[in-house]
Amino acid sequence: MKANKRQSAKNQLITVICDNYTTRDDLESSWGFSCLIKHRGKNVLFDTGSDGIVLAANMSKLSIDPVSIDLLMISHQHWDHTGGIYYILNAKHNMPVCLPYSFSARFKEDMKRYGAELIEVKKAQAISPGLYSTGDMEGPVREQAALLQSPAGTIVITGCAHPGIVKIVKTAEKILPDDDLALVMGGFHLLDNENEDILKIIEQFKKMGVRYTAASHCSGQNARKLFAREYQDHFIPLGAGTIINLQQLR
Ligand SMILES: [Fe+2]
Ligand SMILES: [Fe+2]
Repeated sequence: MKANKRQSAKNQLITVICDNYTTRDDLESSWGFSCLIKHRGKNVLFDTGSDGIVLAANMSKLSIDPVSIDLLMISHQHWDHTGGIYYILNAKHNMPVCLPYSFSARFKEDMKRYGAELIEVKKAQAISPGLYSTGDMEGPVREQAALLQSPAGTIVITGCAHPGIVKIVKTAEKILPDDDLALVMGGFHLLDNENEDILKIIEQFKKMGVRYTAASHCSGQNARKLFAREYQDHFIPLGAGTIINLQQLR
């Protein structure tokens, strides 16, 4: 492993709250993505799914209080990632919200009406200790991904990966060049890709040294199957209710 800051990983968890898939009978699945990142003493909610009612219900069953959230990070302006924003902003005022600069002026104004304190991201930047944004990346839809520094290496969390999942991972490598790539998780947006394309992407992941993958949301069933086949026990089958303990990644 490259020189990596080995801070304590105690209680560093990622909990999937909303996803197209679920791992627990008492949680609802719904098209979209949302996860809670518990990292270095901060609770960061990454995306909010498509529906505030599902987000609220799943959070309650997972014992996550919206008031405990320190920062909201939104990957891109698509309904299946922004749907629960107002549930969160209404539950906690003056919430810092980290979002790509390219969000519409209208959307930004709406969030400010709920007291949101916007952190508008243009280029790659540190958001809090050990948490980075890839910046407002170009693509069919502009999007940011979250990068977490963990003892196992960099964790890349994507919403839909519209700029391209490989491009996002390469960007993560450039931002944190001294760290290994531990895990890439979230929506990979490979719904319409042929198996051949997906296998090439997996090959590129392996070349870049990505040790764990967790393709979910808009990755598509084929991509999930192929990533699972190629990564075996280093593929994490995500769904609402999945809890990843960063300390357990090798
Ligand atoms: Fe999506
Ligand atoms: Fe999207």
